[in-house]
Amino acid sequence: MTATDVELIDIVKDFESGAGRVRAVDHVSVQIADGEFFALLGPSGCGKTTTLRLIAGFEQPTAGQVLIRGRAMQGIPAYHRPVNTVFQDYALFPHLTVEQNIMFGLQMEGVEKKEAQKRALESLEQVRLPGVGGRRPHQLSGGQQQRVALARALVKQPAVLLLDEPLGALDLKLRKNMQVELKALQRDVGITFIYVTHDQEEAITMADRIAVMNHGEMLQVGTPKEIYERPGTHFVADFIGETNFVDGTLLERGEAGFGMVKLMNDAVIRAQLSDTLASEGGPVLVAIRPERISISRADAGPAGAGMTSLSATLVDSQYIGTDTRFTLQIGENIELVARLQNIDDLPKAAFSIGQAVTASWGETSTTILDH
Ligand SMILES: Nc1ncnc2c1ncn2[C@@H]1O[C@H](COP(=O)(O)OP(=O)(O)OP(=O)(O)O)[C@@H](O)[C@H]1O
Ligand SMILES: [Mg+2]
Repeated sequence: MTATDVELIDIVKDFESGAGRVRAVDHVSVQIADGEFFALLGPSGCGKTTTLRLIAGFEQPTAGQVLIRGRAMQGIPAYHRPVNTVFQDYALFPHLTVEQNIMFGLQMEGVEKKEAQKRALESLEQVRLPGVGGRRPHQLSGGQQQRVALARALVKQPAVLLLDEPLGALDLKLRKNMQVELKALQRDVGITFIYVTHDQEEAITMADRIAVMNHGEMLQVGTPKEIYERPGTHFVADFIGETNFVDGTLLERGEAGFGMVKLMNDAVIRAQLSDTLASEGGPVLVAIRPERISISRADAGPAGAGMTSLSATLVDSQYIGTDTRFTLQIGENIELVARLQNIDDLPKAAFSIGQAVTASWGETSTTILDH
C-alpha cells in the first residue's frame, strides 16, 4: 500500500469577520497518498483555498489536525513544512531575472550560489523552459511565467506541492496544453500534488482522485470515474458534467444496490442506488447522463435485459459539433436531454422533430439520489 502523505483529521476552520462567524472548512477528514495527484474541486467560496492554506501552514485550524508524512503540523510554521505553494498569480519578483527568482528560496535556505544556480537550471529544464534564465518575468508569456512559478516551487524539492488554480489566468488553449504538461511533470517528479480548481473538466482530466467540496464540506472523494459515474449526491451529480434529473418516488430498495422508482408519467424503472442514499421511500431524484441515453425508432422493438425503455417524442435537436443534443419529451412532465456523438450523419438523418421514438439506457447508467 502507498504511504499516506497528507492527512486531515476532522478539520474545522472558522473565520471571525464583521458580519459574524464564517465556517470555511466543515469537519473535513481525508488521506492523500504519497505521489498522488489530488484535486480539490468546488464552486467559489466552498473552502478550497482555505483547505490548502491549512496544509501549507498559512492558517491554523479551529479544530482538528493536519499530518504530513505522519507528523502533526500543529505549531510548525509554514516555512518549516515540507510543502510548497504555487499561486494563480505566479507571484514572481518583477525586478529579478527568471534564474534569480528560482534561486531566491534556495539562497534564503543557505544553499550556496553555485549549487542554487545549477538546481535552477535543472528545474527550468524540467518545466521545458531552458534558456530563459536571464530574462525578467515581463519578457515571458503568461504560460511561461506560470512554468517559472512551478520551477521555483519544484526546485526546493518539497514532499507536497500545493497548487491554487495555477492555470486560472491562462486562455483556454494554453490551459489545455499546460494541463497535459503539468500531469506529465507530476508523473516524472513523483511529488504529491494537491490541486485546487473550480473547473470540473480540469479535475477529471488531471487528477487521480477528486474531492468535491461545497459549503466547507467534502461531499465525496473518489476517482474521476467514481465521481462521474457514481455521484453520491444531487450536488455532485450536478456539478460534474451534464445530468438529467428526473423526479420520482422510491417504491423499494431492492437487492444488489438497485431500487424501483415510479416516475411522474407512472412508469416504474429500475436504477442503481447511490452509495449514500438515505431515503427508504418517497421522493427521490434519478440522475441519467445524456450520453448514456440512446434513441431508436418507436417501432424498433423492446430493449434487452438490464435496459430501461420509455416512449418519447423528439422535441428539439441541437448540433454542437462533436455531438447532437436531442431533447425528448416523455409523458407530460419529463424532459430528457440525450447526446449522440456525430460519428457520421446518422443522428441527424435518422430523426426529425415531432417524431415518436424510444429512449433507452442501461440500468447501471442511472443513479437514485436523495432529493
Ligand atoms: N481571512 C478570511 N476572513 C474571513 N473569511 C474568510 C477568510 N478567508 C476565507 N474566508 C471565507 O471562507 C470561505 C471559503 O473561502 P475560500 O477562499 O477557501 O474559498 P475557495 O473555495 O477558495 O473560493 P474561490 O474558488 O473563489 O477561490 C468563504 O466564504 C470566504 O469568504
Ligand atoms: Mg480560492
